[in-house]
Amino acid sequence: NETLEIRASLLEWYDLNQRDLPWRRISSSDEDHDKDASETRAYAVWVSEIMLQQTRVQTVVDYFNRWMLKWPTLAHLARASLEEVNDMWAGLGYYRRARYLLEGAKMIVEEGGVFPKTVSALRKVPGIGDYTAGAIASIAFKEVVPVVDGNVVRVVARLKAISANPKESVTIKNFWKLAGQLVDPSRSGDFNQALMELGATVCTPLNPSCSVCPVSAHCRALSRSKQHTLALVTDY
Ligand code: ADE
Repeated sequence: NETLEIRASLLEWYDLNQRDLPWRRISSSDEDHDKDASETRAYAVWVSEIMLQQTRVQTVVDYFNRWMLKWPTLAHLARASLEEVNDMWAGLGYYRRARYLLEGAKMIVEEGGVFPKTVSALRKVPGIGDYTAGAIASIAFKEVVPVVDGNVVRVVARLKAISANPKESVTIKNFWKLAGQLVDPSRSGDFNQALMELGATVCTPLNPSCSVCPVSAHCRALSRSKQHTLALVTDY
């Protein structure tokens, strides 16, 4: 079955090739029954995913490390002022993201300090949309949900040879549905990160590296020689 093969190949590739990023050191620990560990993981995934939304990975690494030294937990962040948070954000742009992190931390702490664990609960936090909710729920709490960003749109569009305009909301809905069918139920967080990682490093908008792609055997775009023309528009 093709879906099972795609999952297995992609996860094997990710295990060997994932970039060493600071939030993954926290988020890939396997001591799952440790409640504090999964809370810290959720907080780190949240901060990193918000930073990554408009900023490149290499820039985010330093900001993330500084942020986590200053506010190592949600409770620390909730006591910060908007001015401190904005100072820490200086240079990253889109300052609304920093304000949402602060407002979200305050809200979660006021409501008992326990991180929401499902997409539907996470969506109620200011600044957390479908993408961030899916990332936190799958990476930190293993909920079996997809995550769709520009990288995932491109990878899935090529795998399935979908040429529909990814800026239209019906098309985006379809990508969420397809990604939801693809996600590995036993390792949803790793699978979602693997799809994003593949899009960022192998299945790039221009000149994709199909010769080293773990799922090239399943790629409809490649088998139709459309890998160069499909899914070039990803900033939806
Ligand atoms: N881009 C944004 N979030 C990411 C993640 N968790 N893994 C890889 N690429 C990403």
